[in-house]
Amino acid sequence: MNHFLAIGDLTAAEFNRYLTTAQKLKAEWKRRGNAPRLKNKTLGMIFQKPSLRTRVSFDMAMLHLGGHALYLSPNEIGLGQRESIADVSRVLSRYVDGIMARVFAHAHVTELARYARVPVINGLSDWEHPCQALGDALTMVEHLGKLKGKRVAFFGDGNNVARSLMFACALSGAHFVCASPRGYELDAASLEKAGARAAKTGGSVAAIGDPQSAAQDADVLYADVWASMGQESEAAERAKKFPPYQVNTNLLALAKPTAMVMHCLPAHRGMEITDEVMDGNQSAVFDQAENRMHAQKAILAELMAGGKFVMRNA
Ligand code: CP
Ligand code: NVA
Repeated sequence: MNHFLAIGDLTAAEFNRYLTTAQKLKAEWKRRGNAPRLKNKTLGMIFQKPSLRTRVSFDMAMLHLGGHALYLSPNEIGLGQRESIADVSRVLSRYVDGIMARVFAHAHVTELARYARVPVINGLSDWEHPCQALGDALTMVEHLGKLKGKRVAFFGDGNNVARSLMFACALSGAHFVCASPRGYELDAASLEKAGARAAKTGGSVAAIGDPQSAAQDADVLYADVWASMGQESEAAERAKKFPPYQVNTNLLALAKPTAMVMHCLPAHRGMEITDEVMDGNQSAVFDQAENRMHAQKAILAELMAGGKFVMRNA
């Protein structure tokens, strides 16, 4: 059984296959709509946290591919509370053809996968946001032509989005740097694992403290919230430590003139990113949001089309 749980689990060949499928499905959709590869297939979507992009883009992706998505709200199934994660997974596997889950602890999505008889997709955990990274890779390739050799700088917390982006860059031969306040860096084990991947593709990964040197000659400046979902109680403390990592016009001035600005959204405007930069002509944030849908179509088609996934010439 194939699942899509973490970019850190993928080989470069697997990652590139998802990316190529996303490009083809996007081109097909723009031209004439997608063929109904997932006709009569259903996706159960478990949410322990709020969502705009993930919920709507998965729903639309299933619709465009001829299938159906079922939204299960945080209060509805009480994952691990009303009943065990294993039992939720066993039961859902009898009804649906795939499960997408947005959870607090990454162990919850791996537990779902362990007991599922259908593919499980991580729609964000505290460890990784792999669907975001695939959509972001699509966006970077569209804007920059390729990822290999490009300099991608992430500012702020070494969080789920940063980790998935780091692995996507490492698998693609890009140079990734994460600039964080002390105590909020990406963990050493992930840096080492991604570094080993990057050594094979000609890329590199680094975690540093200085935002200015991270921005220098960058092709991409990437921001995310300073306090993620589940860290609300730390928001005030983080708001004191993170302002030097704000993506603003001063930071952007250090990057390449052609640099693109990215944010996975939702944004806290005036905190991790300024209005000027987010609404400026170097911003790709709404292309990113759109590309979530195209990237997820690739994940769904690759995992759920029952081995019959055939791409027409797109
Ligand atoms: N970027 C992202 O995952 O957005 P949502 O939290 O709205 O799904
Ligand atoms: N790091 C953020 C991403 C939201 C899409 C969070 O986990 O809340």
